[in-house]
Amino acid sequence: PVSVRVQDLMARMTLDDKIGQMTEAERQAATPAQSATARLGSILSGGGSTPTPNTPQGWADMVDAYQRAATSTGLGIPIVYGADTVHGHNNVYGATVFPHNIGLGAANDPRLVEKIGAVTASEAAATGVKWGFAPCLCVARDDRWGRTYESFGEIPRNAVANSVIIEGMQGRSLADRTSIMATAKHFIGDGGTTGGVDQGDTQISLEELRRIHLPPFRAAVEHGVGSVMISFNSWNGVKDHGNKFLITDLLKGELHFGGYVISDWDGINQIDGQPGFTAAEVSQAVNAGIDMVMVPYDYQKFIDTLRAEVQNGHVPMSRIDDANRRILTKKFQLGLFEHPYTDRSQQKDFGSAAHRAVARQAVRESQVLLKNSHGVLPLAKKDNKIFVAGKNANDMGNQAGGWTLTWQGQSGERVIPGTTILDGIRSGAGKGTEVTYDRAGDGIDASYEVAVAVVGETPYAEGQGDRPGGLGLDAEDVALLGKLKASGVPLVVVTVSGRPLDIAAELPSIDGLVAAWLPGSEGAGVADVLYGDYNPTGRLSFTWPRSSAQEPINVGDGQQALFPYGYGLSYRRH
Ligand code: IFM
Repeated sequence: PVSVRVQDLMARMTLDDKIGQMTEAERQAATPAQSATARLGSILSGGGSTPTPNTPQGWADMVDAYQRAATSTGLGIPIVYGADTVHGHNNVYGATVFPHNIGLGAANDPRLVEKIGAVTASEAAATGVKWGFAPCLCVARDDRWGRTYESFGEIPRNAVANSVIIEGMQGRSLADRTSIMATAKHFIGDGGTTGGVDQGDTQISLEELRRIHLPPFRAAVEHGVGSVMISFNSWNGVKDHGNKFLITDLLKGELHFGGYVISDWDGINQIDGQPGFTAAEVSQAVNAGIDMVMVPYDYQKFIDTLRAEVQNGHVPMSRIDDANRRILTKKFQLGLFEHPYTDRSQQKDFGSAAHRAVARQAVRESQVLLKNSHGVLPLAKKDNKIFVAGKNANDMGNQAGGWTLTWQGQSGERVIPGTTILDGIRSGAGKGTEVTYDRAGDGIDASYEVAVAVVGETPYAEGQGDRPGGLGLDAEDVALLGKLKASGVPLVVVTVSGRPLDIAAELPSIDGLVAAWLPGSEGAGVADVLYGDYNPTGRLSFTWPRSSAQEPINVGDGQQALFPYGYGLSYRRH
């Protein structure tokens, strides 16, 4: 059994071997040789930290180089390679990129989400990445928070239901060549910060923390999640990274979490609010129950500091052993000792048509039809003149959002393979239909039957996505909608965004409104809904406010929403 193998291995490990296992470095901070010398337990690719070429082959070569070095040391303990597989294996060019969680929350189809987990895992495992930093199970309570789109919904039920994605990722056995280990993140209260400030302070009672933010983690543990990542936020002024009650008593004790706990990037540095980490922060974090620290750069300083803290008695050896038992158990379960190198046999399915079909179905199911006056939708497929406009109509990068190829994501018509929403509108059009596209809406005239404006946000991720000033449309979108409306042509608006937008002022002049969220690589799924090839089933997993001034606004708080939680129309069947 694994426990015997772990015990046997640990009996042969030195203190330095054990501290190494508790250390995770970014790939750019440690070469394979350096990683082996330091006995590092894990290497990660931060968002956008990709090999050249950025292909499945390139990734497998990179990971295998670390494994070759690790397994040639005395004890030969393999590393586990981690990456942010938050909507597919999104850092790798050519991956299938799924809708972000906010769309999956609207789809409300846990079986589909489980399938998405399985596809994500198979694409990641095919590149050597056996550890995904996903799913994010945050319960986002204030849409001004930049990570709202990583949330399945504003109430715990959304994340609880969709935490089944963990089963898809982890498969029947972690050792299967198509499985990876999942990470439930970020523990705990990341979506509850005051003002929706990223990495801010969640000022709520223990009762509310348990009621709103704990249930998804309980569900994740029940699904057997292998790792949990600690959140950057504070809870009532104390950083989660140093909170022993939360990590040891609540997560490991009460929830019986048996996997290992990873810090967030530089997360231990924030415990005392000063830059860098001190010895006191290292011992506080490890004693609080963090098993592996995402350093991610100055790993040697971390190792030296933790060694000294053990030697001077600030960190008990029992804590080091407990952390190692947890980490090594997962490495054995992942089959890394038997099969340290990438199983490349699955690369043939990377970004395949079958995988993209799963993503397209997810896009269809995630669309929420919010308004449909005089049956402007679905669009007629035959003998129609359709005018398409807007910065998000023909931009793969914009529709995929943050955590795509780069950490923050990037705009760009063809930055990833797939279909834009415009591609889908063009290819879905039937005989005799003419589709004209102009981003700025120039050339619209009364000869068109309908105008489709695809507006909304451009990519952002953690740290850069907060909008304390509100969630209004930008000047380009406002100008576009004004121009289209002035033409007198019926107007359909599709919002591509990571959260509900402040759109009440424009709503009276909009005939049809669809929230597309951040659909990912298969924009054709949006067109499937516009044409009625798929009758919309998506329902809001976030309350849509009348105005950003209502934030935070959540179901049950008595505020008058523009569209309430659970809202969503379908087409009438004839
Ligand atoms: O996994 C992420 C986390 O969600 C935010 N900070 C960085 C980590 C690693 O990229």
